[in-house]
Amino acid sequence: MKEKVLVVGGGGREHAIVAALQRAEAKVYAAMKNRNPGIARAAVEFAQVSETDVDKVVAFAVKAGVELAVIGPESPLEVGLADALRGKGIGCVGPSKAAARLETSKSFARELMDRHRIAGNLRFASFNDAKEAKDHIDDIDYQVAVKPVGLTGGKGVKVEGEHLITKADVKAYIDEIFQHKIGGAGVVLEERAEGEEFTLQVFCDGKDIVTMPLVQDHKRAYEGDVGPNTGGMGSYTDANHLLPFVRSGDKEEATRILKGVVGGLRTDGHPYQGIIYGQFMLTKDGPKVIEFNARFGDPEAMNVLTLFDGNFTEAAWGVAIGNVSRSKVSFKRKATVCKYVVPEGYGTVSKAGLPITVDEKAIAEMGAACYYAAVNEEEGKIFTGTSRSVGVVGLGDSIDAAETMCEAALKHVKGEALFVRHDIGRKELVQRRVDHMKQVRGD
Ligand code: AMP
Ligand code: GLY
Repeated sequence: MKEKVLVVGGGGREHAIVAALQRAEAKVYAAMKNRNPGIARAAVEFAQVSETDVDKVVAFAVKAGVELAVIGPESPLEVGLADALRGKGIGCVGPSKAAARLETSKSFARELMDRHRIAGNLRFASFNDAKEAKDHIDDIDYQVAVKPVGLTGGKGVKVEGEHLITKADVKAYIDEIFQHKIGGAGVVLEERAEGEEFTLQVFCDGKDIVTMPLVQDHKRAYEGDVGPNTGGMGSYTDANHLLPFVRSGDKEEATRILKGVVGGLRTDGHPYQGIIYGQFMLTKDGPKVIEFNARFGDPEAMNVLTLFDGNFTEAAWGVAIGNVSRSKVSFKRKATVCKYVVPEGYGTVSKAGLPITVDEKAIAEMGAACYYAAVNEEEGKIFTGTSRSVGVVGLGDSIDAAETMCEAALKHVKGEALFVRHDIGRKELVQRRVDHMKQVRGD
């Protein structure tokens, strides 16, 4: 059966979802705000609409007669798109507005973990008042991460000892969040966790989860992990589905934490059907939760979906109808390296609106993959937007081999004022992570 499946979102993550659905012979429909050329070409039909315009997206889905929807970004989840689609009898990979609070409210996730005594939590406190938050800083004897309470696209978090050096810097940032209402005007102060970060994404059908390969993203804009935080500049996976600094027991522990969260949500009356993205810091005491996302990561989706080896439409149905199982999900045992081509200045002020060309055929011929992101197609030409432009994924038996392929493929992406973090997946950077983890563990 060739299902009609709606994909919501027009970025690299959504292009990767569309490609996985196409391999599973779905008929793809798309709703996106930009005209992503990869998605536009693959779709039977697409609507260029705001992804948070629930009425328009639902009307398009109903008119097209889609049976299933995969919601890419978090913003439509926050406004209840999944609830509205389900209300029309359309199956969804994407949680209800209530369950999506796992991502959309930082305090919701931490309070849920406390209430259900789930391991991996960090000490935290939330404040609606700047003075109380600053007084709290004087009362505690540990370093903190300062987080605006609502969505900021991953860019509002500042960490003491990294971005904020002194206690005065911490307090000044708290004031800034309240004055400029960054992410709403509320702040979470949470214990700083030290170690190496990894991402575990899972399919979740409300009761059970099936894990995907671990991924490590690179949030900082520039090589050597410096510069402003971004949505993610690139990411890698290893052939054994772990990471060079992660032991299998660590992945098992992270999986137990996610299972606890799924159980907690269910007990509280908010069963979760969608993808859960767990961002963990691997510390000397094991994995600690940095945050959850209620969707695939971007760029992480491009790594894991390039490796996806089952029938993605069936896996998506499994999520939507409460019946996901390992038998529907498999991943190639290859390493991947994904690097995003972004406009120069991305992270601060992007030089956008310039033409970019991608030799897709040459990239495919070498066995690599490429996914269009925040670009726009106009009269047959592709132009950059202010966010990330094109994700390029190399595969190989080792991270090193995947990195080499990724670099070769990147030569087929051309344009003015483009930037890539070439260090992602390189031996030196991966080794630095391994050494750092050894030092954190005290080995
Ligand atoms: P988030 O938007 O929550 O993913 O945070 C952005 C980045 O800030 C993360 O990827 C981490 O590098 C860092 N971060 C967030 N929370 C913490 C924490 N509790 N301890 C240390 N680093 C953190
Ligand atoms: N790469 C991080 C995210 O998707 O939020």
